[in-house]
Amino acid sequence: MTHVAVIGSQWGDEGKGKVVDWLSERAEVIVRFQGGHNAGHTLVVDGVTYKLSLLPSGVVRPNKLSIIGNGVVIDPHALFNEIERVSAQGLHITPENLMIADNAALILPVHQHMDGIGEKLRGASKIGTTNRGIGPAYEDKIGRRAIRVCDLGEPEVLASKVDSLLAYHAVMMDYAELPPINKAELLDGLRSISARLLSHARPVWRVLRQASMDRKHILFEGAQGTMLDIDHGTYPFVTSSNTIAGCAATGSGMGVGALNYVLGITKAYTTRVGSGPFPTELTDDIGKRLGERGHEFGTVTGRARRCGWFDAVMVRQAVHIGGLNGIALTKLDVLDGLDELRICVGYRLGDRTLDYFPAGQNAQAHVEPIYETIEGWSDTTHGCRTWKDLPAAAIKYIRRIEELIECPVAMLSTSPKREDTILVRDPFLG
Ligand code: GDP
Ligand code: IMO
Ligand code: MG
Repeated sequence: MTHVAVIGSQWGDEGKGKVVDWLSERAEVIVRFQGGHNAGHTLVVDGVTYKLSLLPSGVVRPNKLSIIGNGVVIDPHALFNEIERVSAQGLHITPENLMIADNAALILPVHQHMDGIGEKLRGASKIGTTNRGIGPAYEDKIGRRAIRVCDLGEPEVLASKVDSLLAYHAVMMDYAELPPINKAELLDGLRSISARLLSHARPVWRVLRQASMDRKHILFEGAQGTMLDIDHGTYPFVTSSNTIAGCAATGSGMGVGALNYVLGITKAYTTRVGSGPFPTELTDDIGKRLGERGHEFGTVTGRARRCGWFDAVMVRQAVHIGGLNGIALTKLDVLDGLDELRICVGYRLGDRTLDYFPAGQNAQAHVEPIYETIEGWSDTTHGCRTWKDLPAAAIKYIRRIEELIECPVAMLSTSPKREDTILVRDPFLG
């Protein structure tokens, strides 16, 4: 058996949902291990578009086991809304095909308040979060105050933990001149969902161990991307979890040795939603064209994504930090018809030249990209399903990317549709 982790290598929205959906044909178990419903993963299957936030992308295929691991922060109301939405599209979600880690932390309404307050306090340097309460929920988890799924089955523990949590947040609610959170209302809300949530709850680390012993293929579905990682990203303009493959182990309860292959999903150009540095950002007509052709609007918030040239320095960093074995290059078709393309191959910072993205906030904001220019192609790559259908210049672009990022292209995606995918090397074969 092989266990494959799929992660984003840029700032999210690289096309992870599409690639996980394609790969999940080969896997029996699909696991989310970090993030929450800040993620927005789009799948296009037989003309139907599914937008998933908290549910693993395995849910669209029958007979697959989907798991939400302990590393995910779960808003139960958002989860059930999402289940209703995809059920209306014909998917069948049950406690047998969707299991949730009993030790995962919950997102409560207070976390969304705190997300909003935090952004307000940051003023002009706000992060531009998805306002889903992700950061504050992780803060409570690390602060050892979180309410976890298993607490719903222990009413006395729950009531006393809610007391401590509300006492902690009362200070901030008061400072923000908001009314205190009503304990009875919060507990009623939790009681209303507890039986349903608990029906999905399992010690998923045991389920995963058994699956592994039964020689099943497991696919780990990352959310966000390496440059949004809490340690390795463009801090503080990041999300509040580790987004790299190492988190697949801690966020699910499997050993680090369980991963056989790490696939980095990589857009053929660069996008970012929210604030923060973006050296190759294009604010001109080309940037606008990429946004329009790539339909670059956030799946979760509908915000326009910022667009720019491919940054090979940043993706190489993601390859090294995340231990990527291969990448899936997506949205190549969006570059069709451009006379020439640019790839960032280094940065200039004052009188220095850098071959990596520095950690300092000022340095990140001021690096200037050094570009290499590459010939574009006029033929279309949209919907190509074999390598030989690709224009020679497009192949040259791919080869140059591989060279610069020091990692091979294992898959190529040429449209949002499941079938418009070229497999170069099967990650499940290691
Ligand atoms: P994720 O968050 O990484 O799963 O990515 P999103 O779903 O947020 O954004 C990727 C968008 O690009 C979605 O609308 C996909 O349907 C779409 N997409 C994925 N692969 C391709 C591709 O190869 N070509 C084009 N044109 N669109 C793609
Ligand atoms: P997927 O899985 C792109 C960004 C937000 C914001 C920052 C912090 O679809 O790739 P948060 O709400 O997490 O505290 O916001 O992270 N962000 C994403 N950007 N794709 C995502 O997920 C994202 N999830 C969070 O825009 O800049
Ligand atoms: Mg997305």
